[in-house]
Amino acid sequence: MKFPFNKLKSALLEPEISEHSIVKNLSLVSKGFTSERKKITEYVMDRDMVSAYTLFYLPSNMPKLNFVFDMLSEDLLEDIRNSRVVDLGTGPGTFAFALDEYFDGDITVTGVDSSALMIEQATRINTTLYQNKRINFSRSFPEDFIGETLILGHSLNEMGLNALMKIIGEYDPRNLIIIEPGTSDVFKLVVKLRSAMNDLGYTCAYPCANIKSPCPVAKKIEDGQEDWCHQVLRMTHDSEFERLSQIVKLDRKVMPLITHVYTKKVIETTHKARMIRFLRESKFSFDWEVCFERGDRLITGTFEVLKKSLSKKEIKNMQKISVGIDFDYTIIKELSENHFRVEIILKER
Ligand SMILES: C[S@@+](CC[C@H](N)C(=O)[O-])C[C@H]1O[C@@H](n2cnc3c(N)ncnc32)[C@H](O)[C@@H]1O
Repeated sequence: MKFPFNKLKSALLEPEISEHSIVKNLSLVSKGFTSERKKITEYVMDRDMVSAYTLFYLPSNMPKLNFVFDMLSEDLLEDIRNSRVVDLGTGPGTFAFALDEYFDGDITVTGVDSSALMIEQATRINTTLYQNKRINFSRSFPEDFIGETLILGHSLNEMGLNALMKIIGEYDPRNLIIIEPGTSDVFKLVVKLRSAMNDLGYTCAYPCANIKSPCPVAKKIEDGQEDWCHQVLRMTHDSEFERLSQIVKLDRKVMPLITHVYTKKVIETTHKARMIRFLRESKFSFDWEVCFERGDRLITGTFEVLKKSLSKKEIKNMQKISVGIDFDYTIIKELSENHFRVEIILKER
């Protein structure tokens, strides 16, 4: 990553911002994201707030793109690389820079944001730390942006689903990538998006194996259970960042997120299972809640993944695994309804 803490600080809108102001503003911004939802948009209109947001959220949000892109097929990644990309609600350029790093500069991306200050901040980072001519920042979409790739990171929640569906109607993207916080509110929003994308004829490349089938987790909510499908990314950060994270009491080592990828490409049916929750580790197994296809329907169930079929190294890796991975499996025994003992084949990641 090209953003060591001190380098990024020198590229802020207010590079001389005091630690006191960073902490105060991060506390206000994070409240805006959680409880005081009405004030959520105010942080994009203040230079100190934009600077504090950038210093904290840009480096800790960027790795979320690697997490989801590592789950996609080579074929789809190639299609994204060959498309033009708009990062809508780019803020300080978070996912525009993340895309550039993921594809080693071999991608054309425009970061679009309604906030003039965010565009000024993103442009400043681009010119001082990047100087990459294939990244642009603007308050409006590039010309002839039809049938390309659209990515939204932590902006769907602010923009609202109706505004996004209008944009999809206007620009007809062939790929849509959503990366949002892993909350139950966002899950409810994304369930509606899933249904709308199915109606428009898209397939889901991540995380659902089949969007023609109703989401089994959404069904649980309808039945009165408190549940939501999300992923969890585990991260390490540099020491300066960690220090700030402890002062502002915002943990960025374990990050729940909700990420969905829709495409017009035909996705091969793989019949894999997806881990949606870590339940426990025992002497004999890792127990996971999983979402998988039975016939043409998606269901959730429990998999006991047997340790005896894994090497010591694989067991160590399994202890660090992020929620949200998919895997091939063989059922060894059906223990009860939707409860299976399995052996799994993990992809090298
Ligand atoms: C929480 S920030 C996310 C920034 C960045 N994508 C990230 O993940 O760090 C949301 C951004 O979306 C922008 N935004 C909200 N509604 C928008 C809209 N309708 N059009 C363009 N940008 C919008 C805001 O100005 C803000 O910069």
